[in-house]
Amino acid sequence: MKILILNGPNINMLGLREPEIYGNQTFQNLLDLIAQTADTLGVKAEHYQSNHEGDIVDQIQAAYGKIDGIVINPAAYTHTSVAILDALKAVCIPAVEVHISDVDARESFRQISYVGMYCEHCIKGQGIDGYRQAMEYLNEKYGK
Ligand code: DQA
Repeated sequence: MKILILNGPNINMLGLREPEIYGNQTFQNLLDLIAQTADTLGVKAEHYQSNHEGDIVDQIQAAYGKIDGIVINPAAYTHTSVAILDALKAVCIPAVEVHISDVDARESFRQISYVGMYCEHCIKGQGIDGYRQAMEYLNEKYGK
């Protein structure tokens, strides 16, 4: 199966960014984990990170007919983006939402997730390991 991993704004700053919240693992550590998980599971993985909402919408649209599952951490767009939610609904690809931090234990504005209205599963507060868990979930459910 082919899995698309999508990351929103500031995820490329992992390691530097608020380590007390997001931990010390770097963005490169995350990319390595995704590649390693893909190898272990025997799946293909594509990764894309953008600080721009429309780019993320474009990637979701481009996934139509090519991708079997999406792992998405829209970062701050989680809490604001109807456009990303609508793109996921348009392509109808199974999707899992990931958050590195435990958003439930943070500010009230982080309790709202628009993509969560589409995603069939959500992993939060597990650090970068959440991406591995999300890939495993999709492979178990949809892989052949
Ligand atoms: C985040 C949580 C969001 O609230 C925040 O805006 C992020 C990262 C997470 O992975 O914990 O940028 O999605």
